[in-house]
Amino acid sequence: MFKRIDHVGVAVQEIEPAIALYGGDLQLAEAHREVVEEQGVEAVLLDVGENHVELLAPLGPDTPVGRFLAKNGPGLHHVAYQVDDIDAALQACRDAGLRLIDEQPRTGIRSSRVAFLHPRATGGVLTEIVQPAGAH
Ligand code: CO
Repeated sequence: MFKRIDHVGVAVQEIEPAIALYGGDLQLAEAHREVVEEQGVEAVLLDVGENHVELLAPLGPDTPVGRFLAKNGPGLHHVAYQVDDIDAALQACRDAGLRLIDEQPRTGIRSSRVAFLHPRATGGVLTEIVQPAGAH
């Protein structure tokens, strides 16, 4: 079902120092930047081969990433797996009895379709499923 890791999501307080770290010190190329109002984040994708690091900065404290930062501080936020067919993948998770955050896919960055599994279903690892735009 999962083809590969699409990206690793990292929660940060401020986007510019994080870009200086990942894009500057660690020399990853910035691939995309997008504000996703619906999710309350500014997201920046950096290339790591064919995979990505996704930096996530909250648009405010009362957002999912803002609440995550208040509780956990900055750091690893989620792992995203790429699929060809997110509807089939979600159904397979549902059939396996896994608790979902998103019953239906929603629009992610770069017009991808994304859905999150509940971290309690996956051993504490917030897990995202991504179907890139143009797939399926
Ligand atoms: Co993500």
